[in-house]
Amino acid sequence: MPRTLRIPRPDDFHVHLRQGEGLAAYARREALHFGRALVMPNTLPPLSGPESLSAYRAAILEATAGLSFEPLLSFKLLPGMARQTVLACAAAGARVGKYYPAGATTNAQDGIREPGEIAEALAAMEEAGLILSIHGEDQEAPALEREAAFLPVVDGILSSYPRLRLILEHLSTREGLAFVQAGPERLAGTLTAHHLLLSLDDLLGEGLEAHLFCKPVLKPAVHRDALRAAVFSGLPRLFFGSDSAPHPRVKKESGRAPAGIYSAPAALPALAGLFDQAGALDRLEPFLCSRGADFYRLPRPRGQLTLVEEAWTVPDELDGCVPLLAGQTLAWKAIE
Ligand code: DOR
Ligand code: ZN
Repeated sequence: MPRTLRIPRPDDFHVHLRQGEGLAAYARREALHFGRALVMPNTLPPLSGPESLSAYRAAILEATAGLSFEPLLSFKLLPGMARQTVLACAAAGARVGKYYPAGATTNAQDGIREPGEIAEALAAMEEAGLILSIHGEDQEAPALEREAAFLPVVDGILSSYPRLRLILEHLSTREGLAFVQAGPERLAGTLTAHHLLLSLDDLLGEGLEAHLFCKPVLKPAVHRDALRAAVFSGLPRLFFGSDSAPHPRVKKESGRAPAGIYSAPAALPALAGLFDQAGALDRLEPFLCSRGADFYRLPRPRGQLTLVEEAWTVPDELDGCVPLLAGQTLAWKAIE
């Protein structure tokens, strides 16, 4: 009998489902494995007000009709955003305001140059009990140093807003990890499957792999190994957010690949294999199903997802995109 792992339907606390063409397929794919997902607001135009949030939730629910899936909403913080806008987003159901430094990633040209630009919004978020989710990269720093270079900004926000709850997204370095570990209880970090599975050498050590290009960029293996050690030992305040970010194959294979890895289809089987190899399979459920929900003060996930130790080859293409680990045979598979 192959080994099986039955867990509640996991939460994905960071996903890009896009808009328009693509949204339905990406949302349905996400809903095959995840029961809830925090959807990112970097669409064009951005999700930055109550009407667009409500319309976006309706579009996702329509796309995933018949599947058990709950989108959790975030709004994009914009320079000069008013307290009233923040409170209206909260009233529309948003739990999170997302901080994108200007120019740091896909559709972040309208992002924030320094936290003073959103002082009013941050105070309103603190008042309303919303969580600040941060893409922590300093765009002025060299590519591999951007995460570490941004940490002083996070430190400043922590001191200026002593009740604000913060998440540093997609941790990719030892420095980011250490910062979260040393921080207060109201600071957490998310980790992606790709930053745990891969390193900079997978991106460019052999041929240049556009489908593995993401922000923050994959780091040298010492960083990946530190992230692995942290999740395998079950350190607190670290949980899963896939940062699954589909871009159509034609765009990824153009001369200038956009940043983003379509990881949702393969993330869970790949993580099961990774944790299993490390003898840490028992740490997977808290990473996927409880630490995040607890930090977000949500009920723990329900339902069931079964992972089984059975060879599964990741398709070469899904939904017009090349998924994470395309064409590779994994030791575990998810029963959909
Ligand atoms: O690689 C990434 N892709 N990182 C991000 O922060 C954004 C995302 C996207 O939207 O494509
Ligand atoms: Zn993201």
